[in-house]
Amino acid sequence: MRVRLVEASAGDLEELWNIEIECFKSDAYPREMIRWMLIDPYMVVIKAVNEEGEVMGFAAGRCKDRVGIVFTLDVRPRFRRMGIGKMLMEELERRIFANGCDEMILQVEARNEEALKLYEELGYKTVRLLRNYYGFKRDAYEMRKKLSY
Ligand SMILES: CC(C)(COP(=O)(O)OP(=O)(O)OC[C@H]1O[C@@H](n2cnc3c(N)ncnc32)[C@H](O)[C@@H]1OP(=O)(O)O)[C@@H](O)C(=O)NCCC(=O)NCCS
Repeated sequence: MRVRLVEASAGDLEELWNIEIECFKSDAYPREMIRWMLIDPYMVVIKAVNEEGEVMGFAAGRCKDRVGIVFTLDVRPRFRRMGIGKMLMEELERRIFANGCDEMILQVEARNEEALKLYEELGYKTVRLLRNYYGFKRDAYEMRKKLSY
């Protein structure tokens, strides 16, 4: 399977927002937030595209004060467990490092086992527990990773 990792642009708004809803349901970022991600000059938004031109998923992050912040990571359900999430995160890290950040930070819901496993595999370490971060009894872990190439 050939996968291209391409920088997303404003024209991808509807498709990325639909993927965000598919992945996060009622927790999805609002359309306006995705729109901002696509036009903010400091944001990096990478989409994974297959040979048929379908967007399989995307990742978004921003480099600020030498720290890269992961905003979202979405892989459409039918393209999961193919290494797309890992590929997107690695590309996001590379680009954020190139923008001057040598550390990545993210929050992940404590019960999101697949994402936790993916981040651990990529070398992220849990630094603290954020109680009720996503709502009542929905804790999150803050995870960090030092970048070096
Ligand atoms: C989390 C998510 C991005 C993973 O994407 P993916 O493309 O399926 O992940 P990958 O195929 O790159 O998986 C890499 C590794 O992560 C771990 N992993 C991913 N999904 C897993 C699952 N369902 N169960 C167990 N481990 C899993 C495995 O270690 C996997 O390696 P392996 O397949 O060689 O065992 C995807 O499930 C998703 O979009 N979920 C909904 C949105 C979300 O929760 N995003 C993260 C928010 S912080």
